[in-house]
Amino acid sequence: MSFSNIKVTKSTSDRVKSYDFENIKFGKTFSDHMFMADYIDGQWTNLEILPTQPLSMHPGNMALHYGQALFEGMKATKSQDGTPLLFRLDKYVTRINASSKRLCMPELPSEVFLNGLRELVTLDQAWIPPQSGSALYVRPFMFAMDNHIGVRPSFTYKFMIITLPAGPYYARPVSLRVEPNYIRAAVGGVGEAKAAGNYAAAMYPTKLAHEAGYDQILWLDANEHKYIQEVGTMNIFFVVGDKVITPATDGAILKGITRESLITICKDKGIEVEERPISIDEIIEAHKKGELKECFGSGTAAVIAKVNKMGYKDQDYMLDDHFPVANMLKETIDGIRAGVIEDKYGWMEKLPILTSV
Ligand code: COI
Repeated sequence: MSFSNIKVTKSTSDRVKSYDFENIKFGKTFSDHMFMADYIDGQWTNLEILPTQPLSMHPGNMALHYGQALFEGMKATKSQDGTPLLFRLDKYVTRINASSKRLCMPELPSEVFLNGLRELVTLDQAWIPPQSGSALYVRPFMFAMDNHIGVRPSFTYKFMIITLPAGPYYARPVSLRVEPNYIRAAVGGVGEAKAAGNYAAAMYPTKLAHEAGYDQILWLDANEHKYIQEVGTMNIFFVVGDKVITPATDGAILKGITRESLITICKDKGIEVEERPISIDEIIEAHKKGELKECFGSGTAAVIAKVNKMGYKDQDYMLDDHFPVANMLKETIDGIRAGVIEDKYGWMEKLPILTSV
């Protein structure tokens, strides 16, 4: 099996045989292989799959100094008969290239990205957890490779994909603190891109939220500190009355692929969805009137994370622990990804089953 001209060096590890798929800890264990490609002289070259291993880097690497680094998060699942499945590839290609454009990095041709991904996931398919709701988390990323001190775009880059088995990112409902001081992104900035630095910038405010007893941050807009943007690790949805509402992607909010998929499922099920500016005051008001029925986050890693508490201006607003809309959406998206619910949207791509795994 080969999707293209990728040099493949197979690992001899049999770690997967003793891996405990019942107790997956997100982010801790990496599968056997990684994909790499180099951007040199204006071309992607050296496409290679090799055993997962450390990289050697020069201390002058520009990504370390000036942050030209981006990433994606995707998921591979398995159908009942063991067929590996990939989710919404076209959307991830579009988004990684939007991020790379914003960070002045080279475009990644879809054949480099997708053929590397297909071959890697096919090879490491034994690492895809069997149970619905779990997945092989796929982490494509790109970073500057010039060794140079002085601010300019790098001329050389590395693109890589690593994968890791993933259970639920949040095992329990999460509490959110509406961030009182800091901001994540302004329109015209890099908030829409999956820039590695966006996550670094969120770490200090997130630490303060943890110290205040919350799991995550709910960001407000940069101009008026009034409109809800997203959570530190995911997009945000509310169910108010019988409508689902979510902040419109205005240039400062990550264009979540899970977010867009959930909107499609809702509309298909006849649930009205509004994408528009949502002020925190509107949500607090809806809570006071008893109209705020549900709040949940969405993301590739999180899939759907139920929210049970929101802290705003020294007051906690508790949410009911019935999540009919969030539960329906999670069952539907997990079911499509496990091949047990018809993929009527054409989101899934099948990979070959390797008989030797
Ligand atoms: C994802 O959902 O895949 C992300 O990249 C978010 C990250 C916080 C894990």
